[in-house]
Amino acid sequence: MIKNITCIGAGYVGGPTMAVMALKNPHIKFHVVDINQSRIDAWMSDELPIYEPGLFEVVQQARGKNLFFSTDVEGAIKEGDMIFISVNTPTKKYGIGKGRAADLKYVELCARQIAEYADDDKIVVEKSTLPVRTAQSIKKILSATGHGPKFQVLSNPEFLAEGTAVEDLMQADRVLIGGDQDEAGLAAIEELVKVYNAWIPRERIITTNIWSSELSKLTANAFLAQRISSINAISALCEATGADVEEVAHAIGTDSRIGPKFLKSSVGFGGSCFQKDILNLVYLCEFFGLHEVARYWEQVVTMNDYQKSRFGSKIISTLFNTVSGKKIAFLGWAFKKDTNDTRESASIYVADQLLNDEASISVYDPQVPEQQMYLDMEELETRPMEVNKQRLTMTDDAYEACKDAHAIAVMTEWDEFKTLDWQRIYDNMKKPAFLFDGRLILDRKKLSDIGFEVYTIGKGK
Ligand code: NAD
Ligand code: UGA
Repeated sequence: MIKNITCIGAGYVGGPTMAVMALKNPHIKFHVVDINQSRIDAWMSDELPIYEPGLFEVVQQARGKNLFFSTDVEGAIKEGDMIFISVNTPTKKYGIGKGRAADLKYVELCARQIAEYADDDKIVVEKSTLPVRTAQSIKKILSATGHGPKFQVLSNPEFLAEGTAVEDLMQADRVLIGGDQDEAGLAAIEELVKVYNAWIPRERIITTNIWSSELSKLTANAFLAQRISSINAISALCEATGADVEEVAHAIGTDSRIGPKFLKSSVGFGGSCFQKDILNLVYLCEFFGLHEVARYWEQVVTMNDYQKSRFGSKIISTLFNTVSGKKIAFLGWAFKKDTNDTRESASIYVADQLLNDEASISVYDPQVPEQQMYLDMEELETRPMEVNKQRLTMTDDAYEACKDAHAIAVMTEWDEFKTLDWQRIYDNMKKPAFLFDGRLILDRKKLSDIGFEVYTIGKGK
C-alpha cells in the first residue's frame, strides 16, 4: 500500500504531474524535491516557476495538504514508498554521443542517491524520457548497494504537452506503465495502476514490459514530430506551386487514417523534447547498427532546421536581400503559446540568422522575460553578449515592438496577436510594411487590405 510518493525533479513534468496526482489521491502524501532552491521557492509561492493554464488552481488545492515541495532529497528518498525520477535528460554536449545521445548523468545521480539513502523497499519510476534499456543501468546501480532494500523499476513516460499540461494530465488519452513481467514486477505495476486509476479509467492504463514502455515514448515523439516535418516539407512545395498548405492539411486530415491533429505548418517545431528525443533515437539506431533507420528519423530534424532557416532567409530576401540596420519585430519568443518555455524555440534560431545579417530585433512575448531570451542566445555562442544586447531587445508592449519596424515576424501563436489593432501597427511602421506569419494565425486578406505585404508559410502569392 503506497502512502508516500516522492518525485525528484520539480520541472515542467515533475511539478504538474505530482500536483494532479496529489489532487486525485488525497490519501497519499506527495513530496517533490529539487536541487534548485529558487525553483522550489517558486513552487511554494503564488508565482509558480512555470506558466501553465489551470496549474495554479490545482497546486493551491493540494499544496500544504498532501503536496509538499523542498530541497531535502535525502529525506524525501527515505520517506517515499514510490520514487519518481523526473529530472532533465538533455542532449549530451560532450564526449561519446555528443550532440545526439541523451545525457543521463542526472538520472544516474538520482539512482545513486536512492541507492545511498533508501533504507526500505522502494518502487522506482522512470518518469523522465529515457533511451530504451536505461532501466537496466538503474537496476544495476540500485542492486549494487547490497545493503538490504529491494527495488522494483518501472517505466512510466509522460505524454503531456506544455500549455495544456493540466488538461492532458486530467484527461490523458492513455497512461503507459512498463515493468518486469515476473510476480514482483507485476505487483509493482499494479501499485502504480492504482494511483492513476484514482481518475483515469482502467482501460486507458496500458501495461507492458519495461523496454516497450521506454521505447514507446521516443516513438510517440518521433511520430508527432514527423507529422510536423511532413506538413512543413509540403508547405515549401505549396509556396512554389500556389497550393495552400491549410487546404492541403484539411483535405488529407479528414481521411480518418491520417487524422486532423498535428498538421499545422509552422516556422518549425521547438520545445525541449522533439529534437532531443529524435536525436536520441537516431543515436540508439546507430548504436545497434541500424544505419538506414537512423538516417530515416534524422531527416525529421533536418527538415525542421530547413524550415527555420527557410523562414529567416525569406525575411532577408524579401527585404531586398539585407536586413542590416533594419528593425524586425518578433511577436513571440516561447516555443508555443500558453507556456513561458523557450527551449529550442524557432525564434532563437531565426533571430540568430537575422542578427548575422546585422538586423535589430525587438521582441514582445507575454510570458518570457528578457533575461531568458539572452540566456537562449548565449547558449548558441554565435557572438559576444554585448552585441546580442545591442541588437536584440525585449519590450513588454506589442505596439512598441512593432513601432518603426521594417517587418514583423509572428513566431509564436499567442491568441492575443490575432486581436491586435493591426491598422495602428501598420500606421506606425516603415513602408513597405512587411509581415511574415510563421504560425498561420492572422487574417491575410484583412492585413493585405490594410496595406501590409504579407508572407504566410505555405501560401503562395
Ligand atoms: P526540467 O528541466 O523542467 O526539470 C528537471 C528538474 O530536475 C530541474 O528543476 C532540475 O533542477 C532537477 N534536477 C536535476 N537533477 C536533480 C537531482 N539530482 N536531484 C534533484 N533535482 C534534480 O525538465 P522537464 O521539462 O520537467 O523534463 C523532465 C523529463 O521529462 C525529461 O526527460 C523530458 O524529456 C521529459 N518530458 C518532458 C515534457 C515536457 O513537456 N517538458 C513532457 C514529457 C516528458
Ligand atoms: C510534445 C508532445 O506533444 C508531448 O506529447 C510530449 O509529452 C512532449 O513533447 C515531451 O515529450 O516533451 P510539447 O513539446 O510540450 O509536447 O508541445 P507540442 O504541442 O507537441 O508542440 C511542440 C512544437 O511543435 C511546438 O513548437 C509547436 O508549435 C509545434 N507544432 C505542433 C507545430 O508546428 N505544428 C503542429 O501541428 C503541432
